[in-house]
Amino acid sequence: MKYSVAVLTSLLHLAASQIDLTNWILELPVKADPLNPNNTEVATILNPQLNAVPRFSNEFFYTTPASDGQVFHTPVFPPNGQPQSGTPFVSTFLRESDPNSTFVHWDSTKGTHSLKADLAVTTFPGTTNAKMIVAEIKVNSNICVGCTSFALFAHAKSNPITYYLKGVFGNFTTTVDIDPAYQLGAKFNIEILVVEGVIYFYYNNELKSPEGGFKSTEQSVYYKAGAFSQNQNSVLHPAAAVNEVVFYSLAVTHNESTTPPQLPPPATTSVVSSEPTASATADAGKGAASPSTTAAATKSSSVVLSLFLAAVGFALM
Ligand SMILES: *[C@@H]1O[C@H](CO)[C@@H](O)[C@H](O)[C@H]1NC(C)=O
Ligand SMILES: *[C@@H]1O[C@H](CO)[C@@H](O)[C@H](O)[C@H]1NC(C)=O
Ligand SMILES: *[C@@H]1O[C@H](CO)[C@@H](O)[C@H](O)[C@H]1NC(C)=O
Ligand SMILES: *[C@@H]1O[C@H](CO)[C@@H](O)[C@H](O)[C@H]1NC(C)=O
Repeated sequence: MKYSVAVLTSLLHLAASQIDLTNWILELPVKADPLNPNNTEVATILNPQLNAVPRFSNEFFYTTPASDGQVFHTPVFPPNGQPQSGTPFVSTFLRESDPNSTFVHWDSTKGTHSLKADLAVTTFPGTTNAKMIVAEIKVNSNICVGCTSFALFAHAKSNPITYYLKGVFGNFTTTVDIDPAYQLGAKFNIEILVVEGVIYFYYNNELKSPEGGFKSTEQSVYYKAGAFSQNQNSVLHPAAAVNEVVFYSLAVTHNESTTPPQLPPPATTSVVSSEPTASATADAGKGAASPSTTAAATKSSSVVLSLFLAAVGFALM
């Protein structure tokens, strides 16, 4: 009797929110220890709490009213949220882990790795250069905080307000237009697929990565998903601005397969530039390290970052 109630509850629970959070850690844009001003770590929700019934929920992470998706809500810039330790950016996101909430890393040069999701960017400032990462293959490196093998960015520009999606590969060395006229709230599907050191990206089932995929030599990476703001500048963006993305499904698989995907005929992918936007420069003008400047200045990044963090610490005092 007890057992069937548990099964029923768990079925209802799964039907309600769809996403299995067993292999994720949730990071929140608030301090882990609000009473200790010296502690810059953000709060995390680990398993079994994260995937429990009823589902963990707060103002940053909650189920949609229709119970069909998981909302990730984050302030757009640091004064309104605690930045990720070691970065200037505020975020609410999931990071890959094992079921015991130990971080997981994998070798992008071996086997097959896939992240599939259905999602929508629902709230986003309409200010020029507003930007957020919603899904990523992050490089696991303590010398290069901004390094990324692939990141799906939402961007905006004003006059008139338009939203667009971009993919960046290999520490921002290659940028690809994903959707130049994205409508806020429009649901889309993605797959970030890695096979034996080659990254492929699909948007609404169409291949959008550069022809033949993007070569990756990274041996320690992990998937991330959620709302990862890339803005720090309160002059450029409204003080109360928030980013919101809804995930309707999210699934990661890893296996040993070495078979490359069957690729459709070459898509009309345009490789547009080596910079995600001019905004990197705009925000950097405020003395902050944007992801692209961080990537470009890998060697001196720890120095730049310490200076930057000192500046943020000062600004917050
Ligand atoms: C924070 O750091 C300062 C300087 O190291 C120290 O004096 C202070 O006691 C610390 N505060 C807490 C709450 O640990
Ligand atoms: C999780 O922890 C349990 C208990 O310590 C252990 O038996 C199990 O092997 C661990 N699982 C993983 C994936 O490490
Ligand atoms: C990205 O940066 C990392 C860390 O410095 C480096 O190992 C890697 O080769 C870079 N990848 C690309 C494609 O530039
Ligand atoms: C490996 O994973 C890929 C991506 O999810 C999947 O398409 C493929 O069928 C899997 N192969 C095996 C042998 O499990």
